[in-house]
Amino acid sequence: MRIQAVKGMYDLLPPQSRRLGEVERISHELLATYGYCEVHTPLLEYTGLFARSIGEETDIVEKEMYTFEDRDGRSVTLRPEGTASAVRAYIEHGLSASEAVTRWYYLGPMFRHERAQRGRYRQFHQLGVEALGVSEPGIDAELCALLWELCGRLGAPGLELHLNTLGCAECRPVFRAALLEYLAPHEASLCEDCRRRFRHNPLRVLDCKVEGCRRIADGAPTSLALACAACRGHWDGLMLDLEALRVPSQHDVRLVRGLDYYTRTTFELQSTAPGLGVQNTIAGGGRYDGLVAELGGPPTPAVGFAMGLERLLLALGDERPPLRPVAQVGCVSRGEAARRALLPLARDLRELGISVDVDHRGSSVKSQMKRADKLGCALVLILGEDELARQVVTLREMAGSAAGEAGATRQSEVPLAEAVARIRALLAGG
Ligand code: HAM
Repeated sequence: MRIQAVKGMYDLLPPQSRRLGEVERISHELLATYGYCEVHTPLLEYTGLFARSIGEETDIVEKEMYTFEDRDGRSVTLRPEGTASAVRAYIEHGLSASEAVTRWYYLGPMFRHERAQRGRYRQFHQLGVEALGVSEPGIDAELCALLWELCGRLGAPGLELHLNTLGCAECRPVFRAALLEYLAPHEASLCEDCRRRFRHNPLRVLDCKVEGCRRIADGAPTSLALACAACRGHWDGLMLDLEALRVPSQHDVRLVRGLDYYTRTTFELQSTAPGLGVQNTIAGGGRYDGLVAELGGPPTPAVGFAMGLERLLLALGDERPPLRPVAQVGCVSRGEAARRALLPLARDLRELGISVDVDHRGSSVKSQMKRADKLGCALVLILGEDELARQVVTLREMAGSAAGEAGATRQSEVPLAEAVARIRALLAGG
């Protein structure tokens, strides 16, 4: 029997892999302008890290983790998300002592044994961004603006930024009690999941997708109405900063998120792009002011988000971000001596940062031309034995390419020794 990829996991091949690369490149660039530095943490962590941070009774920890014993008999887990690892590393390396504000990001695969469907996979990629050390709402706004700008720059359509507050150690219990009191008379009408967990975590009823629960949740008290003065002030400050940054947002009283570490601000970026289907949340995040202390570090305010890169690609559709051609220049040769004569030329072009394709298979000129066209080459170098003898090469500007005439091809003979300089000038638009 043929062996296939593990269920819910997939191979990322061109052109999607190139799109992911483009998204990553643009993300690196934007994040650098905000002063965020990339960190790499292991894909495996001791299981206790996730149980303690994400929460024992969350869906992720209860039923979605890839957990196993390693050869030393210790329980390890493939990371289902990156915040817990980032905080572990922050504490382990004593960052709070060496810098007042830490701005980190990470890019990489995460693992959750979820029911696989469009936009939901068992291995997926996240871009996670975390800011530690700032309690003021300015940093929450900075992250929302960064996320908004990134998705806008990439061309994601139909974006909506949803925001809520979950309160703090002081006002969350008040909200929770009010919610319990409101929900208690409706208990019998809740779905099975909500009935099971609502005494322990009534907030989860708010984001239940079942119609009956939604109707009940519609009349529930809201966290903002019951927020303490400090949480209210934080919210108001965030709204003012977002307004100054011209980032449109909407208050979503149901936004509670599925991880236990959140305090105060929570947010999600959703997209109405048709490619996404029901999994329309591109990114989610919020404040986690208690997590560093919970994991044994000094009390440190923190906030962050993670974006699902597969979902982002689905939202972008097949066209964006625009891909550069696989090769800018194609080498087409007739005969082995001509092919060999093009090799140093190709190397010299690559040294200038120009991408070049060489067909080594001795195919016909026609099929080599077809290949160059398919790869999106703007220019093709054609060398036959006769041209080689005369030390010239034919340079063809492909139709419709930036270097070529619109709708027509143009070609000329160039001395071999001048070909590199000529190509460089043509690609630079000269
Ligand atoms: P999360 O909401 O669990 O938050 O995941 C963030 C994003 O990852 C989601 O909005 C979605 O785009 C993507 N995602 C999650 N699960 C899957 C899946 N099975 N398949 C495809 N994409 C998925 C977190 O992970 C938090 N660590 C975010 C955070 C960072 N909060 C503070 N800092």
